[in-house]
Amino acid sequence: MSNYHLAPADKPQALTPQALRSLRQDPVQGISRRTLLRRSIGGAVLLWLTEVTAGSIGFLWPNVKGGFGAVIKIGTIADIKAANSSIPFNQGFPAYFQNARTYVMLIDTSRQEFTPGEDKTGDGTALNVRALYQRCPHLGCRPNPCLKNFWFECPCHGSRYDRLGIKALGAQFGPAPRSMDRFSITVDADGVLIVDTSKITLGPLPVAVGQPGIIPPKSPVGCI
Ligand code: FES
Repeated sequence: MSNYHLAPADKPQALTPQALRSLRQDPVQGISRRTLLRRSIGGAVLLWLTEVTAGSIGFLWPNVKGGFGAVIKIGTIADIKAANSSIPFNQGFPAYFQNARTYVMLIDTSRQEFTPGEDKTGDGTALNVRALYQRCPHLGCRPNPCLKNFWFECPCHGSRYDRLGIKALGAQFGPAPRSMDRFSITVDADGVLIVDTSKITLGPLPVAVGQPGIIPPKSPVGCI
């Protein structure tokens, strides 16, 4: 609402030049448009800063707390076996670690140990251990390892992977376009496996069953 009030010129408060001058010099009652504009801009900037700060904290929080997205210590092979006594980890069956969203498995089961070193590609052959990202490369569900055939089977659309995460080639083995992705890993001098969940290498292309590079299922029947 305006601060100016018009009145007929013959009335005492008519909008004469003197009256206009006096009105301009009078302090504005209530809040002026300029103040309103300034406060609106200030409020918008404050809101934007708050959103940027909250977003940054949310993004970095897992690193600060050591959760997914950070470098996570899994343990020695003895720790892993003790924590997964109900599964045949020593036969190469994958063990699941929820905090790192990873499946960890031995590569060569004739060697029941990890070899100290680092593997940023996540292949893990030299370290005798691999850490797979739990996310199915098709649409992101979590494939489950099946005790019958030692393969991973995705419950969403049926993609199948061998126990090291290699996708089996062929439409009958599901729609995923590649093998499961891998985390960068380190085994320290004490044999402790450390997974860097911020560094992911995409899994290789599918391999036809029967060809080198994929482990055949232990049984023709799976879990799904
Ligand atoms: Fe795994 Fe579709 S999400 S097969």
